[in-house]
Amino acid sequence: MNKKTIVVVGTSRGIGHAIVHQLAQQSDFTILALSRDVEKMKQSFDGISNVLCQHFDLSADVANQAKQLFEGISSIDVIINNAGLLVNKPFTELSHNDIASCYQVNVIGVMETVQAAVSKMNPVGSHIVNISSMGGFQGAMKFAGLSAYSTSKAALCSFTELFAEEYKDSTIKMNCLCLGAAQTEMLEEAFPGYIAPVSAEKMAEFIVDFALKGNQWMNGKILPVSLTTP
Ligand SMILES: NC(=O)c1ccc[n+]([C@@H]2O[C@H](COP(=O)([O-])OP(=O)(O)OC[C@H]3O[C@@H](n4cnc5c(N)ncnc54)[C@H](OP(=O)(O)O)[C@@H]3O)[C@@H](O)[C@H]2O)c1
Repeated sequence: MNKKTIVVVGTSRGIGHAIVHQLAQQSDFTILALSRDVEKMKQSFDGISNVLCQHFDLSADVANQAKQLFEGISSIDVIINNAGLLVNKPFTELSHNDIASCYQVNVIGVMETVQAAVSKMNPVGSHIVNISSMGGFQGAMKFAGLSAYSTSKAALCSFTELFAEEYKDSTIKMNCLCLGAAQTEMLEEAFPGYIAPVSAEKMAEFIVDFALKGNQWMNGKILPVSLTTP
């Protein structure tokens, strides 16, 4: 009775990669792992029979890609929208493309993925978890250089509240986790030398547990998950 189909977006490295490895330990889960770098995913998840790796790019034509990916799936129990794009640049140096790319990958791509998935969500109960950042959490400490990234993550928080309101009478629940620093390639590229207090694996542990159970208690909630950022 534990059988679940779980879609994880952004799984070739970092937190998403750790999420897939942890979910895959439950042999009756089927995990659809989505990222651009399929070769990397195939190498990392080689020999794990309940992980299916597929190409997915949030930067363009997301509606069509998602429709095709979900076509063959009868029912989705959990979606973890984990992929993210971080641009770290002084505000006046941000190009139109820098800003548009952050919004495309972090907001528009997520919304179009969810649009394609809505009719496929398990009617018995399902959970969509959006991965945002403390930078997008209202009132939390902000960092110079992150105006494109953090405003897009704030929009993802807002989308969570709006979707939850629109679907409050359905069995689909959506929540948003605003992560503090976790040690990943993204963090290393954006803030070289910074050592986070939490590993990708440790952060993934919380996300997996929340994604599997959190919909029993919460809907439309924006939750800070941080040891660092006040
Ligand atoms: N690490 C932190 O300290 C931290 C803090 C706050 C929030 N977060 C959030 O947590 C999430 C995971 O972060 P992370 O640190 O693990 O990041 P990461 O190491 O950069 O990994 C991001 C993943 O997203 C995928 N991705 C990026 N652009 C994509 C696109 N256009 N289409 C599809 N997939 C794409 C990447 O795979 P491909 O390149 O193969 O597509 C990669 O697997 C992100 O949403 C991030 O904003 C992280």
